[in-house]
Amino acid sequence: MPRTRHAVSLAALAVALTTGHAAAAPTTPEARAAALVARMTTDEKIALVHGHFPMFTKGKPAGMTLHAGYIPGIPRLGIPDLQESDASLGVANAGRGPTDDATSLPSGLALAATFDPEIAYAGGAMIGKEARQKGYNILLAGGVNLVREPRNGRNFEYLGEDPLLAGTQAGASIKGIQSNHIVSTIKHYALNAQETGRHVANAVIDPAALQESDLLAFHIAIEAGRPGSVMCAYNKVNGLYACENGPLFDILKKDWGYKGWVMSDWGAVHSAEAALTGLDQESGQELDKQAYFDAPLKADLASGKIPMAKLDEMVTRIVYGLAANGVLDHPVAAGGLDTAAEGVVAQRAAESAIVLLKNTGDVLPLAKSARNILVVGGHADIGVLSGGGSSQVVPVGSTKFKPPSWAPSWGGGMIYQPSSPLAAIRALAGGATVTYDAGTDPAATAAAAAKADLVIVFAAQWATEGSDVSLTLPDGQDALITAVATANPKTVVVLETGGPVLTPWIDKPAAVLEAWYPGSRGGEAIARVLFGEVNPSGRLPVSFPTSEAQLPRPKLDGDPTAPESLDPTKGQPPFDVHYTEGAEVGYRWYEKTAAKPQFSFGYGLSYTRFSYSGLKVSGGKTLRATFTVTNSGKRAGIETPQVYAAGEGRTLRLVGFTRVALKPGERRTITIEADPRVLATFDGAAHRWRPAKGRYAVTVGPAAGQAVLTGAGVLP
Ligand code: BGC
Repeated sequence: MPRTRHAVSLAALAVALTTGHAAAAPTTPEARAAALVARMTTDEKIALVHGHFPMFTKGKPAGMTLHAGYIPGIPRLGIPDLQESDASLGVANAGRGPTDDATSLPSGLALAATFDPEIAYAGGAMIGKEARQKGYNILLAGGVNLVREPRNGRNFEYLGEDPLLAGTQAGASIKGIQSNHIVSTIKHYALNAQETGRHVANAVIDPAALQESDLLAFHIAIEAGRPGSVMCAYNKVNGLYACENGPLFDILKKDWGYKGWVMSDWGAVHSAEAALTGLDQESGQELDKQAYFDAPLKADLASGKIPMAKLDEMVTRIVYGLAANGVLDHPVAAGGLDTAAEGVVAQRAAESAIVLLKNTGDVLPLAKSARNILVVGGHADIGVLSGGGSSQVVPVGSTKFKPPSWAPSWGGGMIYQPSSPLAAIRALAGGATVTYDAGTDPAATAAAAAKADLVIVFAAQWATEGSDVSLTLPDGQDALITAVATANPKTVVVLETGGPVLTPWIDKPAAVLEAWYPGSRGGEAIARVLFGEVNPSGRLPVSFPTSEAQLPRPKLDGDPTAPESLDPTKGQPPFDVHYTEGAEVGYRWYEKTAAKPQFSFGYGLSYTRFSYSGLKVSGGKTLRATFTVTNSGKRAGIETPQVYAAGEGRTLRLVGFTRVALKPGERRTITIEADPRVLATFDGAAHRWRPAKGRYAVTVGPAAGQAVLTGAGVLP
């Protein structure tokens, strides 16, 4: 008998092992979350739905270090402490010492400019790896707010003006982060389109237009990246705070079936009742008026105002997000970084992101025969500029400058990351003499420029969270560029900007590169593009206007000079921003208003030439465009063909894109299928999507509004 019993139990064990204990322990993230929540006390549940901002936490518990967020775990149930770090462009470390190494990717707009989800994935995977090694399991990454407002101080964290491009890149980056068994957020849900008055602004928009623009970007990214958490924004949307916005949360959770949790932005919660609308977790409670999801929530549960089932749902969503991403099974453990290897990822991204805006007479790539090169301005002797705020990454060896007076008081200064373009140019310039001139005396610099064989002017625009920017380059840099390029027409301008800027001097220099904030290895990336070791292939993810008058709102709403305040009774009074352009954001707006931007969305030159031929468009389930791209120049290069479609009476939409590497003379026939979500229309009255139908004009080319091939397709 005992032998039989033993045999039976072994057989049961074998079944359990091969099925992963299917019978005994829940295996799906849903079942694991439900089982864990069933074992929690009410206090344990409440502890999971509100988190700290460690910098302001009094009596810090053990395990809390100075980063963005901390929520104690439940060790008896195997739920680790939630250690949250900002990570839009790298593991942010503004609050810690300069010895805290971290690798900085180029800015979000730069990642978008690669038009390459594989590069976005690699960048995310790199950040996630560093985060694990630094002991973080939740990254506050995934900024996907559309660039509706080119002056938005946080555009550098975002991914451009088009929902398909932004959603695709955000999804890939989030997937890369989460491949490290940690959670990434996606943020800021939704319409945090300007920093001016971000705590008091009410974004007013037609709900259907919102679906076809900003929400579409979120939806595409959530489907592709499956982020464990969504961060709601500070601002109001159509009268309701984004963090207590039932209609927005219903779209996310009911219409899209999102199963993870919604965390608030830091200081974005205004009541415990926000839980009833769909907010699952209060973050950085020290920044709210009170810790609403602590005692007030407990009181509401006791009085029955908030049902216990609601709390269970909130906690289940949190634990689901952790379980689905391996946070419960793969505890993070701090360990040594390999910043050299990680720098390679950052450099590749920067090299793929730099956009060649102008190249008259093929002045670029630089001939190694130039004997006497003058490098001007932009602190090119020190490093490359980066954007300020919570996403700030401060690699070892960075230099801090005093920020301008309009910067928020809590900011950490203007950080130049330690990758000197000047040093990198010298390294590649052969035996040429490379001289540096800070550009502080334009007349003297112009005199020096006149004597040089070639001049490279670095022009920088700093942007930061908490403020918006002017589109005019600061500190007289327009005049400097004009003076230098007038003195020496063989002038190359390298822009390091947070987003689009005005270029009133555009006719003067021979060449212009947009290098964005190029990250930890930005100097090397810029030099390699200048000397042709890398053929530029970046494309603009945002239109560059000729002037502010071309924008839907020529003047920014609110008072950009008012200091930021989390308290709506202090700071500037509440105001509305009317997004009357609706879904006609960016290039769609230019088409609608028949205006010509300075540089179009999708635009970017190469050191080689490409030609397009043989477009065939077919309809059916979706539009399909087949065409051939040929490298008709003399160098290997990468082209980014873009397919746009316009339904009757509607503006262009980017419906697909790809990157194709071609050797000289090589051609490739490409088929791009339109993403049906971009072609569909949202019926606001019926609150549902109407699939694309009818005749669509299809254009193929290297930028919006640059239709090299045209065709049409019908969807029945
Ligand atoms: C920002 C978020 C950030 C959070 C935590 C907020 O001010 O808007 O993007 O994740 O702070 O640092």
